[in-house]
Amino acid sequence: MCKSELHSLIASLPKCEHHLHLEGCLSPSLVFQLASKNNITLPSASEDPAYASPEALAARYNHFTDLNSFLAYYYRALDVVITQDDFEMLGWEYFTTAAADGVKHAEVFFDPQSHTARGISLDTVVKGFEAACKRAEKELGVTSKLIMCFLRHLPVQESRDTMAAAVAGGYFEGEERVIEGLGLDSSEVGFRPELFEEMYAQAEKMGVRRTAHAGEEGDPTYISGALDALRAERIDHGIRLVEDPALLERVVKEDIMLTVCPLSNVCLRAVENVAQVPIRKFLEAGVKFSLNSDDPAYFGGYILKNYCAVQDAFNLNVEEWKVIVQNSIEGSWCGEQRKKELLAMLEDCVQKHTST
Ligand code: HPA
Ligand code: ZN
Repeated sequence: MCKSELHSLIASLPKCEHHLHLEGCLSPSLVFQLASKNNITLPSASEDPAYASPEALAARYNHFTDLNSFLAYYYRALDVVITQDDFEMLGWEYFTTAAADGVKHAEVFFDPQSHTARGISLDTVVKGFEAACKRAEKELGVTSKLIMCFLRHLPVQESRDTMAAAVAGGYFEGEERVIEGLGLDSSEVGFRPELFEEMYAQAEKMGVRRTAHAGEEGDPTYISGALDALRAERIDHGIRLVEDPALLERVVKEDIMLTVCPLSNVCLRAVENVAQVPIRKFLEAGVKFSLNSDDPAYFGGYILKNYCAVQDAFNLNVEEWKVIVQNSIEGSWCGEQRKKELLAMLEDCVQKHTST
């Protein structure tokens, strides 16, 4: 909860989340629970004392030094997620918590290669997450889209194979595709977006949406690379955009939305504190962005904590919050009818606030 008198408005805003890794919702308690259910041996105390208990693991998550130091824990924890039901449970963990934070529409990432490398089929992963998405719409009224990410630190051939498996599975077919878009994540520096051009071109031909992590740790040429080579329609993180004014102007002109993750940036030391995230600069320059939780089980909280942290750092007014939420609705990949519903919810929410 933030200290602001706007907290109740902020809590009730109809939020769209566009930067959320479903695997990043695997909490320490769920790691231990699934390890026990699936008979998986966690690292011993001598290998890594952080695995002594869920509490010790949670405490360890407060001391990441950069993206790679986090990713080592993120990938290792996934060993405990095995069955379709496990994937559904992980997805459900996200949707129930997000719904309580006011999320109405979510476009969520998943990393097939972190599972197929362990012998789990793409079908098991997608069907589990898809079941969670369907249940979220039915029981919570939260609409969603799935975004399949390539792990950029692995050989490009593995991304090619993942793309081929998704095409063969029919996941990109039809009006209501099971997988709506492509993403690119994992270690950024040294793994340039241009490497993945072929899969993104194939996606564009099929009408599949495109986004990519860029400008989290990588310099602004990673952002321009994603725009030029991948024809990305959104940029995930993108905070280093402020270092290149000409590119910033281009992002505004081409109506590219950034999916900013303030608490993640602090936890992975991309910035020292939330006040250093260029929120005010983006607002003033007309750069559209949404606020997101990235990996909530690792970075101290779900979406509302990110909204509150921004409010504590920037003390935004009602009009500024309205702009942020309106841009995140309009930058979503849902249909026009759903956007209209979400915009009406926003109007209603702001009106209720101003009339009290
Ligand atoms: N950056 C890159 N890869 C990731 C992240 C992130 O913030 N979270 C999960 N995979
Ligand atoms: Zn991310």
